[in-house]
Amino acid sequence: MNGISSLDEMFQVQSDNVTYTGNEIISDYTYETTLVKGNVVKPMKMKMQFKTDVNVKKTGVMLVGMGGNNGCTCIGGALANKHGIEWETKEGKLKSNYYGSMLLSSTVNLGIDPNGTTIYTPMKNMLPMLNPDEIVWGGWDLSSMNLGDAMKRAKVFDIDLQRKLYPYMRDIVPLPGVYFPDFIAANQSDRADNILSGSKQEQLDIVRSQIRKFKELHSLDKVIILWTANTERFSSIVKGLNDTAQNIMSGIAANESEISASSIYAVASILEGCTFINGSPQNTFVPGIVELARQEKVFIAGDDFKSGQTKMKSVLTDFLVSAGIKPVSIVSYNHLGNNDGKNLSAPSQFKSKEISKSNVVDDMVASNRILYDEGEHPDHTIVIKYVPYVADSKRAMDEYTSEIFMGGKNTIAMHNTCEDSLLATPLMYDLVLLGELCERISMKKEGEEKWESFHPVLSLLSYMLKAPLVPEGAPVVNALFTQRCAIVNVMRACLGLSPENHMTLEHKFESTLTEFEKMRDAPHSNGYQNGYSNGHANGYSNGHANGFSNGHANGYHQNGH
Ligand SMILES: NC(=O)c1ccc[n+]([C@@H]2O[C@H](COP(=O)([O-])OP(=O)(O)OC[C@H]3O[C@@H](n4cnc5c(N)ncnc54)[C@H](O)[C@@H]3O)[C@@H](O)[C@H]2O)c1
Repeated sequence: MNGISSLDEMFQVQSDNVTYTGNEIISDYTYETTLVKGNVVKPMKMKMQFKTDVNVKKTGVMLVGMGGNNGCTCIGGALANKHGIEWETKEGKLKSNYYGSMLLSSTVNLGIDPNGTTIYTPMKNMLPMLNPDEIVWGGWDLSSMNLGDAMKRAKVFDIDLQRKLYPYMRDIVPLPGVYFPDFIAANQSDRADNILSGSKQEQLDIVRSQIRKFKELHSLDKVIILWTANTERFSSIVKGLNDTAQNIMSGIAANESEISASSIYAVASILEGCTFINGSPQNTFVPGIVELARQEKVFIAGDDFKSGQTKMKSVLTDFLVSAGIKPVSIVSYNHLGNNDGKNLSAPSQFKSKEISKSNVVDDMVASNRILYDEGEHPDHTIVIKYVPYVADSKRAMDEYTSEIFMGGKNTIAMHNTCEDSLLATPLMYDLVLLGELCERISMKKEGEEKWESFHPVLSLLSYMLKAPLVPEGAPVVNALFTQRCAIVNVMRACLGLSPENHMTLEHKFESTLTEFEKMRDAPHSNGYQNGYSNGHANGYSNGHANGFSNGHANGYHQNGH
């Protein structure tokens, strides 16, 4: 009793709430939330159905900035996994893996078995998911260097891994990209030898045709586009220029200078019906682009990969504030020596990063009016320095000072050696995999006829992002485990399972514990089914007693998963 075990295979849910049609999983779901009006609090329920298309189609991913450290690490990492590459290091032989990818390398609590043992399953087994080994990779870079040499330039992978990957990487050459020098640091100009020419409208048209050709060439069903290029400066939001979908299209046609390269890729992506994800901090998603995505019903998600220091911050601040401890000063220093660091050493590109890193504690601080008055914030300072010697091995040093009981002070100092691209790359897989999965999920409210996709501003991807873009009027959530919970519970909803509530009431009362003891001692099938269903709902007991074994035999596998 109370042990932990794992279910490593795909499974099927057996419940009146779920139907497997072969091509789809359809679940009946009651979403429960709480409405607070003044001091009146009302539970709210909304009945809906979720539909998940289980057929994962052939998918291509185009990276903007594919020759950069993240770009070539992402493609190289997937190829190393695909080809089962092993390599020698001074510590011995290592094997390819997907560590750091929440979807591919973490597990979720699925439920309990008849003995009360908690069963974990890989998150990727919850719903049919794209396998990064099978993605067709492509994209753009301002540098014409092939990916084999770009991988060497990046100095991210171990030398023996580089040698083994080189034959797979040397023939991958980036498409020429959109380069507006004013948006990235001047120190990037010496690598820009692979650029498009023409007006902004002409370059937009070329990027659109590059996407179409890539799709045709590889017979792809869908393409997802991910910006992992240099951080740009912020674009000014100008009325009449980029504030509406129509204005941004006119602005491009008029060759307006304030339209960034990332905006051109985003517009091209949206017009080609491809999900566009922004892994850098700049405000690519100006209001006109958000409106365009809504009009075209195409997903956009951003901004800025949440990989190292900020990820820690979104955990540590959540822990402190939710423990009733008051952080009053958060000071973050970074130094890094890769090309990202070089680009960020220019003031306007640093500014974009500073903004995206700054707001990460806001929701947690605002959630606790015992500790903080309205409008009160901890002092929060971010410093980034370029130190070429440390290359991709970014150092992040943080000091958190908090007020504790009775005027005491608590100081936590942290040193985090980040291996920048090795932390960012698994997030790129997760963004693509979750974005692709979201394209296959739709929802229908009770009484409605039409199935509805997620809002085009795909905030479910926030876990992987430092400054989450959310639909207008929606709250921004930065707390990491709250973001993760949202993903797990949406997956559970698609399977007609209640949200993970961590209550484990079955272990918290004498009577429920006794039930379990009886079940454990009774013959397997009868004991569990009778015992549990007496105290709980019927569906659940049936699901466990009969479901799993049928599920394995008859479930996903036969449908091709
Ligand atoms: N841990 C991380 O690595 C991390 C975390 C968060 C955000 N980011 C962001 O991810 C981005 C990429 O990081 P990186 O370390 O790979 O940087 P990098 O400088 O090594 O790579 C960026 C690449 O983009 C290319 N590029 C620039 N503008 C382009 C354009 N308009 N079109 C096509 N290609 C273009 C450059 O030539 C370069 O090869 C940066 O903006 C960085 O701030 C990285």
